[in-house]
Amino acid sequence: MQLYFVMLGPPGAGKGTQAKTVSQELDIAHISTGDLFRDNIARKTDLGKQVEEILASGALVPDKLTVEMVRQRFQESDAKNGAVLDGFPRTPGQAKALDSLLAEFDASIALVPYVRVSDNLLVERLTGRRTDEQTGKIYHLKYNPPPPDAKLTHRPDDQEDTVRRRLQEYEKNTAPLIEYYREKGVLREIDGEQAIEAVTADLLGIIKADMTA
Ligand code: AP5
Repeated sequence: MQLYFVMLGPPGAGKGTQAKTVSQELDIAHISTGDLFRDNIARKTDLGKQVEEILASGALVPDKLTVEMVRQRFQESDAKNGAVLDGFPRTPGQAKALDSLLAEFDASIALVPYVRVSDNLLVERLTGRRTDEQTGKIYHLKYNPPPPDAKLTHRPDDQEDTVRRRLQEYEKNTAPLIEYYREKGVLREIDGEQAIEAVTADLLGIIKADMTA
Protein backbone atom coordinates (compact mmCIF):
# COMPACT_ATOMS: atom_id res chain seq x y z
CA MET A 1 0.00 0.00 0.00
CA GLN A 2 1.26 3.49 -0.86
CA LEU A 3 0.92 6.03 1.93
CA TYR A 4 1.46 9.73 1.32
CA PHE A 5 1.24 12.25 4.13
CA VAL A 6 1.56 16.03 3.99
CA MET A 7 2.88 17.68 7.15
CA LEU A 8 1.25 21.09 7.30
CA GLY A 9 2.09 23.88 9.72
CA PRO A 10 4.01 27.12 10.04
CA PRO A 11 7.82 27.38 10.02
CA GLY A 12 9.08 25.98 13.33
CA ALA A 13 5.92 23.98 14.11
CA GLY A 14 7.97 20.78 14.28
CA LYS A 15 7.17 19.33 10.84
CA GLY A 16 10.73 18.17 10.19
CA THR A 17 11.18 16.77 13.70
CA GLN A 18 7.99 14.71 13.42
CA ALA A 19 8.35 13.77 9.74
CA LYS A 20 11.66 12.01 10.44
CA THR A 21 10.01 9.82 13.09
CA VAL A 22 6.93 9.03 11.00
CA SER A 23 9.02 8.05 7.96
CA GLN A 24 11.10 5.68 10.12
CA GLU A 25 8.06 4.17 11.85
CA LEU A 26 6.22 3.55 8.57
CA ASP A 27 9.31 2.83 6.47
CA ILE A 28 8.46 5.44 3.86
CA ALA A 29 10.50 8.29 2.39
CA HIS A 30 10.91 11.65 4.11
CA ILE A 31 10.79 14.34 1.43
CA SER A 32 11.65 17.80 2.73
CA THR A 33 11.77 20.43 0.00
CA GLY A 34 13.75 22.71 2.33
CA ASP A 35 16.39 19.97 2.81
CA LEU A 36 16.47 19.30 -0.95
CA PHE A 37 17.04 22.99 -1.70
CA ARG A 38 19.75 23.25 0.99
CA ASP A 39 21.47 20.15 -0.41
CA ASN A 40 21.47 21.70 -3.90
CA ILE A 41 22.89 24.93 -2.49
CA ALA A 42 25.66 23.03 -0.66
CA ARG A 43 26.53 21.10 -3.84
CA LYS A 44 26.42 24.33 -5.90
CA THR A 45 24.14 22.79 -8.53
CA ASP A 46 22.35 25.01 -11.09
CA LEU A 47 19.19 24.73 -9.01
CA GLY A 48 21.15 25.58 -5.86
CA LYS A 49 22.54 28.73 -7.50
CA GLN A 50 19.05 29.76 -8.59
CA VAL A 51 17.47 29.39 -5.15
CA GLU A 52 20.23 30.39 -2.72
CA GLU A 53 19.22 34.05 -2.41
CA ILE A 54 15.53 33.17 -2.25
CA LEU A 55 16.04 30.89 0.77
CA ALA A 56 18.29 33.43 2.47
CA SER A 57 15.56 36.07 2.13
CA GLY A 58 12.77 33.86 3.49
CA ALA A 59 10.71 34.11 0.27
CA LEU A 60 9.27 31.08 -1.53
CA VAL A 61 10.93 29.40 -4.50
CA PRO A 62 8.71 29.60 -7.64
CA ASP A 63 6.25 26.71 -8.01
CA LYS A 64 7.71 25.53 -11.32
CA LEU A 65 11.19 24.86 -9.88
CA THR A 66 9.79 23.32 -6.71
CA VAL A 67 7.34 20.96 -8.42
CA GLU A 68 9.97 19.76 -10.89
CA MET A 69 12.38 19.00 -8.03
CA VAL A 70 9.67 17.02 -6.20
CA ARG A 71 8.72 15.19 -9.41
CA GLN A 72 12.32 13.99 -9.72
CA ARG A 73 12.51 13.02 -6.04
CA PHE A 74 9.37 10.90 -6.47
CA GLN A 75 11.22 8.77 -9.05
CA GLU A 76 13.66 7.51 -6.40
CA SER A 77 13.03 3.97 -5.20
CA ASP A 78 12.40 4.82 -1.54
CA ALA A 79 9.38 6.95 -2.51
CA LYS A 80 7.58 4.09 -4.25
CA ASN A 81 5.79 2.91 -1.08
CA GLY A 82 4.91 6.39 0.01
CA ALA A 83 6.35 9.46 1.65
CA VAL A 84 5.98 12.04 4.35
CA LEU A 85 6.03 15.39 2.58
CA ASP A 86 7.55 18.10 4.74
CA GLY A 87 7.33 21.70 3.51
CA PHE A 88 5.51 20.74 0.31
CA PRO A 89 3.00 21.76 -0.93
CA ARG A 90 3.23 25.36 0.17
CA THR A 91 0.94 27.14 -2.29
CA PRO A 92 -2.43 26.27 -3.87
CA GLY A 93 -0.60 25.72 -7.18
CA GLN A 94 1.75 23.21 -5.58
CA ALA A 95 -1.19 21.43 -3.92
CA LYS A 96 -2.88 20.95 -7.29
CA ALA A 97 0.41 19.81 -8.86
CA LEU A 98 0.81 17.23 -6.08
CA ASP A 99 -2.70 15.88 -6.70
CA SER A 100 -1.82 15.40 -10.39
CA LEU A 101 1.56 13.88 -9.57
CA LEU A 102 0.04 11.30 -7.25
CA ALA A 103 -2.77 10.54 -9.72
CA GLU A 104 -0.08 9.55 -12.24
CA PHE A 105 0.65 6.47 -10.12
CA ASP A 106 -2.87 5.95 -8.90
CA ALA A 107 -2.23 7.29 -5.42
CA SER A 108 -3.71 10.03 -3.28
CA ILE A 109 -2.99 11.78 0.01
CA ALA A 110 -3.88 9.61 2.99
CA LEU A 111 -3.74 12.30 5.67
CA VAL A 112 -2.62 15.86 6.26
CA PRO A 113 -1.51 16.30 9.87
CA TYR A 114 -1.71 20.03 10.62
CA VAL A 115 0.64 20.90 13.47
CA ARG A 116 -0.78 23.97 15.22
CA VAL A 117 1.60 26.27 17.15
CA SER A 118 0.99 29.92 18.05
CA ASP A 119 3.19 32.62 16.49
CA ASN A 120 4.86 33.70 19.73
CA LEU A 121 6.46 30.24 20.18
CA LEU A 122 7.63 29.92 16.58
CA VAL A 123 10.26 32.67 16.66
CA GLU A 124 11.83 31.18 19.81
CA ARG A 125 11.81 27.70 18.30
CA LEU A 126 13.51 28.79 15.10
CA THR A 127 16.14 31.10 16.57
CA GLY A 128 17.09 28.32 19.03
CA ARG A 129 17.18 25.54 16.42
CA ARG A 130 20.49 23.83 15.67
CA THR A 131 21.08 20.95 13.23
CA ASP A 132 23.76 18.28 13.51
CA GLU A 133 25.55 18.59 10.18
CA GLN A 134 26.69 14.95 10.24
CA THR A 135 23.43 13.19 11.17
CA GLY A 136 20.89 15.82 10.06
CA LYS A 137 19.21 15.53 13.47
CA ILE A 138 17.28 18.61 14.59
CA TYR A 139 17.89 20.01 18.07
CA HIS A 140 16.83 23.02 20.11
CA LEU A 141 19.16 24.73 22.57
CA LYS A 142 16.41 24.78 25.22
CA TYR A 143 13.73 22.22 24.29
CA ASN A 144 15.84 19.43 22.80
CA PRO A 145 19.48 20.06 23.74
CA PRO A 146 22.13 18.55 21.47
CA PRO A 147 24.78 16.15 22.79
CA PRO A 148 28.12 17.86 23.55
CA ASP A 149 29.95 16.16 20.64
CA ALA A 150 27.40 17.22 17.95
CA LYS A 151 28.73 19.36 15.08
CA LEU A 152 26.05 22.02 14.98
CA THR A 153 24.94 24.41 12.27
CA HIS A 154 22.56 27.33 12.55
CA ARG A 155 20.42 27.87 9.44
CA PRO A 156 21.05 31.31 7.93
CA ASP A 157 17.29 31.83 7.53
CA ASP A 158 16.74 31.28 11.26
CA GLN A 159 17.74 34.87 12.11
CA GLU A 160 14.79 36.72 13.62
CA ASP A 161 14.09 39.16 10.74
CA THR A 162 14.11 36.33 8.16
CA VAL A 163 11.93 34.18 10.41
CA ARG A 164 9.33 36.97 10.44
CA ARG A 165 9.37 37.13 6.64
CA ARG A 166 8.88 33.34 6.50
CA LEU A 167 5.90 33.60 8.84
CA GLN A 168 4.35 36.25 6.56
CA GLU A 169 4.89 34.01 3.51
CA TYR A 170 3.23 31.17 5.40
CA GLU A 171 0.15 33.23 6.28
CA LYS A 172 -0.22 34.53 2.74
CA ASN A 173 0.56 31.46 0.64
CA THR A 174 0.37 28.30 2.76
CA ALA A 175 -2.32 28.86 5.41
CA PRO A 176 -5.07 28.67 2.69
CA LEU A 177 -4.13 24.99 2.27
CA ILE A 178 -5.67 24.25 5.67
CA GLU A 179 -9.14 24.79 4.16
CA TYR A 180 -8.16 23.07 0.91
CA TYR A 181 -7.35 19.84 2.78
CA ARG A 182 -10.18 20.24 5.32
CA GLU A 183 -12.64 20.27 2.44
CA LYS A 184 -11.09 17.07 1.08
CA GLY A 185 -11.67 15.44 4.49
CA VAL A 186 -7.99 14.53 5.08
CA LEU A 187 -6.93 17.28 7.52
CA ARG A 188 -6.19 16.24 11.14
CA GLU A 189 -5.26 18.93 13.67
CA ILE A 190 -2.53 18.25 16.20
CA ASP A 191 -1.56 20.38 19.21
CA GLY A 192 2.08 21.17 18.38
CA GLU A 193 2.65 23.07 21.63
CA GLN A 194 3.07 19.87 23.63
CA ALA A 195 6.46 18.24 24.26
CA ILE A 196 8.03 16.61 21.19
CA GLU A 197 7.25 13.04 22.39
CA ALA A 198 3.60 13.93 23.09
CA VAL A 199 3.20 15.38 19.58
CA THR A 200 4.74 12.18 18.14
CA ALA A 201 2.33 10.01 20.16
CA ASP A 202 -0.69 12.01 18.93
CA LEU A 203 0.54 11.93 15.35
CA LEU A 204 1.20 8.18 15.26
CA GLY A 205 -2.12 7.57 17.06
CA ILE A 206 -4.03 9.53 14.42
CA ILE A 207 -2.25 7.76 11.56
CA LYS A 208 -2.80 4.29 13.02
CA ALA A 209 -6.46 5.02 13.80
CA ASP A 210 -6.98 6.15 10.23
CA MET A 211 -5.19 3.13 8.76
CA THR A 212 -7.37 0.70 10.73
CA ALA A 213 -10.66 2.59 10.15
P1 AP5 B 1 11.86 24.60 5.16
O1 AP5 B 1 13.17 24.00 5.43
O2 AP5 B 1 10.73 23.75 4.74
O3 AP5 B 1 11.46 25.48 6.42
P2 AP5 B 1 10.05 25.71 7.15
O4 AP5 B 1 8.80 25.23 6.55
O5 AP5 B 1 10.12 27.16 7.39
O6 AP5 B 1 10.06 24.80 8.32
P3 AP5 B 1 11.18 24.64 9.32
O7 AP5 B 1 12.18 23.62 8.85
O8 AP5 B 1 11.72 25.99 9.68
O9 AP5 B 1 10.37 24.15 10.61
P4 AP5 B 1 9.75 22.76 11.01
O10 AP5 B 1 8.27 22.89 11.11
O11 AP5 B 1 10.28 21.65 10.17
O12 AP5 B 1 10.30 22.66 12.50
P5 AP5 B 1 11.46 21.75 13.14
O13 AP5 B 1 11.00 20.35 13.26
O14 AP5 B 1 12.78 22.00 12.49
O15 AP5 B 1 11.99 25.74 4.03
C1 AP5 B 1 13.07 26.65 4.04
C2 AP5 B 1 12.96 27.55 2.81
O16 AP5 B 1 13.05 26.75 1.61
C3 AP5 B 1 11.65 28.33 2.66
O17 AP5 B 1 11.67 29.54 3.40
C4 AP5 B 1 11.62 28.56 1.14
O18 AP5 B 1 12.51 29.59 0.77
C5 AP5 B 1 12.16 27.25 0.61
N1 AP5 B 1 11.13 26.24 0.37
C6 AP5 B 1 11.03 25.02 0.99
N2 AP5 B 1 9.97 24.34 0.53
C7 AP5 B 1 9.38 25.14 -0.41
C8 AP5 B 1 8.23 25.00 -1.22
N3 AP5 B 1 7.47 23.89 -1.17
N4 AP5 B 1 7.92 26.02 -2.06
C9 AP5 B 1 8.68 27.13 -2.14
N5 AP5 B 1 9.77 27.35 -1.38
C10 AP5 B 1 10.12 26.36 -0.51
O19 AP5 B 1 11.47 22.39 14.63
C11 AP5 B 1 11.88 23.74 14.83
C12 AP5 B 1 12.59 23.84 16.20
O20 AP5 B 1 11.65 23.58 17.24
C13 AP5 B 1 13.72 22.81 16.38
O21 AP5 B 1 14.76 23.40 17.11
C14 AP5 B 1 13.06 21.67 17.20
O22 AP5 B 1 13.99 20.98 18.00
C15 AP5 B 1 12.05 22.46 18.03
N6 AP5 B 1 10.83 21.71 18.30
C16 AP5 B 1 10.14 20.90 17.43
N7 AP5 B 1 9.03 20.42 18.03
C17 AP5 B 1 9.02 20.93 19.30
C18 AP5 B 1 8.13 20.80 20.41
N8 AP5 B 1 7.03 20.04 20.33
N9 AP5 B 1 8.44 21.47 21.55
C19 AP5 B 1 9.55 22.25 21.64
N10 AP5 B 1 10.45 22.40 20.62
C20 AP5 B 1 10.17 21.75 19.46
